[in-house]
Amino acid sequence: MFYVFSTPQSLAQHLSNILIQRIQQKPNIVLGLATGSTMEPVYGNFVQRIKQDNVDLSQVRSFNLDEYIGLPPEHAQSYHFFMNENLFSLVNLKPEQLHLPNANKQDIESECKKYSEQINKEGIDFQLLGIGTNGHIGFNEPGTPFNSLTHMIELSEKTRIDNGRFFNDMSEVPTHAITMGMADIMSAKEIALVITGAHKAQTVLNLYNSPVTEKMPASMLKEHKNTHFFIDEAAASLLPKEAYQFVA
Ligand code: F6R
Repeated sequence: MFYVFSTPQSLAQHLSNILIQRIQQKPNIVLGLATGSTMEPVYGNFVQRIKQDNVDLSQVRSFNLDEYIGLPPEHAQSYHFFMNENLFSLVNLKPEQLHLPNANKQDIESECKKYSEQINKEGIDFQLLGIGTNGHIGFNEPGTPFNSLTHMIELSEKTRIDNGRFFNDMSEVPTHAITMGMADIMSAKEIALVITGAHKAQTVLNLYNSPVTEKMPASMLKEHKNTHFFIDEAAASLLPKEAYQFVA
């Protein structure tokens, strides 16, 4: 079942409420974090609520989903930079509470192995996800095995073109990234997949119609027992009425 919200802002408000509740229930919660334009209103609202309600984040830990290879953390399009700008520098979260894949290591393979082992050890309580127009979650492109752990991936042409909007020209768009694997994502106890915007309406319809298959990575979430599919009206515009419930 998809839950539909009139705007990305009303969705963000609802999701922030859930996040704040989960943190209050479990102060040492482990969050899985996503980047991308979908997450901007989510973090915007979350930061506002944290300040308003004086939420204690001192025991929270986090794991980010992915990072481009070749961009240093201070590069404006790196996901390190995005997280600092949209969340970390705005609230009381210290570097030692945060995990992001280090895509600038010489030995990417051992960095990936270490990242999955840490995820496995700490256990993600709540994972935030966006989706690519081709159905990717994290940077797990169509065809990525469901049993994959954190790994290096070659970005598909579609993803590079979609994300090219943030770069001056296509030659600057990285070709590779590190991403949490499908099995790392699936190990989270609770997941929220957030999909907003008319440009994702066809993706939502494809996801709704898709069987669980590696060709549509996000379809794996249909087998996860505790995933919220949160969508705005624009992204839900091609769905049949019986596919969703309107929330706010
Ligand atoms: C980002 C990530 C990606 C994005 C997806 C959608 O950390 O893992 O899967 O969620 O590419 O990006 P936006 O929100 O920019 O459309």
